[in-house]
Amino acid sequence: MSFIEISHLRKSFGANTVVHDFDLSIDKGEFVSFLGPSGCGKTTILRMIAGFETASAGAIQIGGTEVTHLPPSRRKVGMVFQAYALFPNLTVAGNIGFGLKIAGKDKGEIDARVAEMLELIKLPDLGSRYPYQLSGGQQQRVALARALAVKPEVLLLDEPLSALDAKIRVSLREEIRALQRDLGITTVFVTHDQEEALSISDRIVVMNEGRADQIGTPSDIYNNPATRFVASFVGTLNLLEARVVDPAAGRLSIDGQPVMTTRDLSAFGIADETTVALRPEALTLGDGNGDRNTLSGTVEEVAFLGAVIRVRVRLSEARLSLDLFNDPALQLPRIGAPAAISFKREDLLVMDRR
Ligand SMILES: Nc1ncnc2c1ncn2[C@@H]1O[C@H](COP(=O)(O)OP(=O)(O)OP(=O)(O)O)[C@@H](O)[C@H]1O
Ligand SMILES: [Mg+2]
Repeated sequence: MSFIEISHLRKSFGANTVVHDFDLSIDKGEFVSFLGPSGCGKTTILRMIAGFETASAGAIQIGGTEVTHLPPSRRKVGMVFQAYALFPNLTVAGNIGFGLKIAGKDKGEIDARVAEMLELIKLPDLGSRYPYQLSGGQQQRVALARALAVKPEVLLLDEPLSALDAKIRVSLREEIRALQRDLGITTVFVTHDQEEALSISDRIVVMNEGRADQIGTPSDIYNNPATRFVASFVGTLNLLEARVVDPAAGRLSIDGQPVMTTRDLSAFGIADETTVALRPEALTLGDGNGDRNTLSGTVEEVAFLGAVIRVRVRLSEARLSLDLFNDPALQLPRIGAPAAISFKREDLLVMDRR
């Protein structure tokens, strides 16, 4: 049995249902991310796990105990909120010790735990400062320490890095992950940044309008997106209309040009329309010589992005982007020149009909 069991969870605000029949099991010590666009229900689910929002239907179990109707204080959950909510009138030490004070711990115990937490977040000397005297990254660390101080069994992080600039985000997310591994604490991390989710999660829940579209490991989600939504949300992707030619043989056509896939087409009939997806990094310029799929078109745009050069090729109707690694010796394709694009049969992803 998993450590957190969420079953048939639903949340409605008035007539508006924002979480629909949501199921998720999380193992002890696992790091799970909720990834999805603004308004898809990430915060609402997190708040239901923490007990700050009541579920309209369904159940939540933590460590074998049904907590659906328990108050937050009885759930052994620590949460870092989306808009970081340090108490401005309390010092760093006061913020970190807040939960312990509420729980009625004595001063000696609180002081010792606060000192331990300050060490943990590598800010040992800042206990007497106020939040306004800290940088954004330091404030986020304090919010994390406050959530961990009460020794929760579950850590809930609601976009804890969104207010920070790109460099600090990356280093702090690595710190959070290392800390989480050391403590072995079961963690749910919310983000709408796909790279962030891919880089730190054991599993990702891709959310779409209050539902989980797909739940899987980062490599699952990226390489085998289950729906068109997941495919387009996770990574840069070419989505193309295709026609099934021979399902048993894996034959399709894109813009009238024949291609093959190793994916299962048994759900399709001859001449069915479907959507296929190709990642830019799976494509190379040049003819596939029969071993690989080849599509022919014309170079429409060449964009220098630094480490990679993104080339857009137009078939008759469809357009495809592909990435070349930067190399000063590289002869860049000319706009308007004919171009062939090739890719492996297994790289042609066929989307479910959803
Ligand atoms: N207290 C509330 N009353 C009414 N509607 C609400 C309430 N809280 C959230 N909602 C609605 O529920 C939906 C989901 O909101 P939620 O905050 O869970 O989204 P989110 O995925 O966390 O988005 P973001 O990435 O912008 O933080 C939104 O449409 C929001 O307007
Ligand atoms: Mg939110």
